[in-house]
Amino acid sequence: MDNFVFDIKTKVYFGKDTLKELWSEILNKTDRVLFCYGGGSIKNNGIYDQIILGLKENNIFYKELTNISPNPDIESVDEGVKICREHNLTGILAVGGGSVIDTAKVISAGVNKEYSDPWEIMKKGERNYALLPVFTVTTLSATGSEMNAVSVMTNKKLKLKQSTITAHPVCSIIDPTFTNSVPKIHLIAGVVDIISHTLEDYFSLERDSYLLDGFSISIIKTCIKYGKVLLTDPTNYEAKANLAWASTYAINGVIAHGKPHAWTFHVISHPITHYYGLTHGLTFSILMPHWMEYVLNEQRVEPFYRLGVEVFGIDKNLPKMEVAKQTIEEFKNFFKLIGAPLKFSEVGVDDRHFNEIVENLNITANERRFVPFDKQDVLNILRSAL
Ligand code: NZQ
Ligand code: ZN
Repeated sequence: MDNFVFDIKTKVYFGKDTLKELWSEILNKTDRVLFCYGGGSIKNNGIYDQIILGLKENNIFYKELTNISPNPDIESVDEGVKICREHNLTGILAVGGGSVIDTAKVISAGVNKEYSDPWEIMKKGERNYALLPVFTVTTLSATGSEMNAVSVMTNKKLKLKQSTITAHPVCSIIDPTFTNSVPKIHLIAGVVDIISHTLEDYFSLERDSYLLDGFSISIIKTCIKYGKVLLTDPTNYEAKANLAWASTYAINGVIAHGKPHAWTFHVISHPITHYYGLTHGLTFSILMPHWMEYVLNEQRVEPFYRLGVEVFGIDKNLPKMEVAKQTIEEFKNFFKLIGAPLKFSEVGVDDRHFNEIVENLNITANERRFVPFDKQDVLNILRSAL
């Protein structure tokens, strides 16, 4: 394993009735927050009322930024920054899924930065100005944004969707019961997204990573076991709790540190969600098996083999290539079982934007990728998935 520093800055309160812990955590840092949320789900499921009550009872001054959309646009960041500046707000409270939390993080980076275009906040690198503290209440198990420093934003004008690094949330509340109202399609997308984050780091050049790969396998087994439970029992607490923690752990650095890594599926997924409006998680049940089929060969068979034996219980005495091929089929079977798409045609995606997508793709860090790829490879994978 490579050397690494492991220092996650986020304090997590996990479990039922943990929202009450949030208020003193906020008051440790500020008593003036921007309360960010999405298109209204928190008003329908009662979480909004609980937040307002907590803010008022604890004398925390707040202003609201609402209607943050899935695949959020940088315009929401600009709006949030302006509200913070106008009302001298010094903290951000994000209540929602990854889209809301990602937006909150970029707002936190924007308030003290001079910019003429909000897209400038997305610029990676050293941030030599103060970020506002971010607090989150997670309502959807998928992106793990509640315990990492990543934000993914869209720029409709530039036709771009890209990630940046800001700061870890200071404190996150993960109450799995808050995910009970998530519609089935987003439950499914969440499970697939968690698997995708895990596989992004699992498929790595590093083969001296038995422990980390074991963590990854455990996360994938959790997704498969409890993804199936949710099909018939969508509010099962055991399933919700295990998936909530799996989603956080898949992308909080635990399984990534110590390995050279550069993500693949997400590089291809981001423009697909942007151009076709597809839900983030649903791109991966399509892209991952097609990528696997594209890259599998005798030199790369080992990680497929371990997945096949340990996740799906395939006979370890079979030839490794046979196990690897069965592994890909098992992933497809699972995705199909939970209702996730396996082909672009199932979700109305045709090839009309493929050339433009590939043309604009920014492929970097190939030296750290399990399988380096170029634009032609991406086009081939996209076409095979039609
Ligand atoms: O907007 P509202 O009304 O809240 O509804 C949302 C939205 O329609 C709904 N929802 C969320 N919690 C709910 C709920 N509905 C009912 N009950 C609840 N408890 O679900 C829909 C999707 O929400 P969204 O936040 O967009 O989903 P997700 O958490 O999957 O986030 C996706 C975004 O995160 C980015 C993606 O690219 C995408 O933009 N990602 C962020 C990452 C990170 N920060 O580390 C990594 C990921 O790979 C990903 O790229
Ligand atoms: Zn993702």
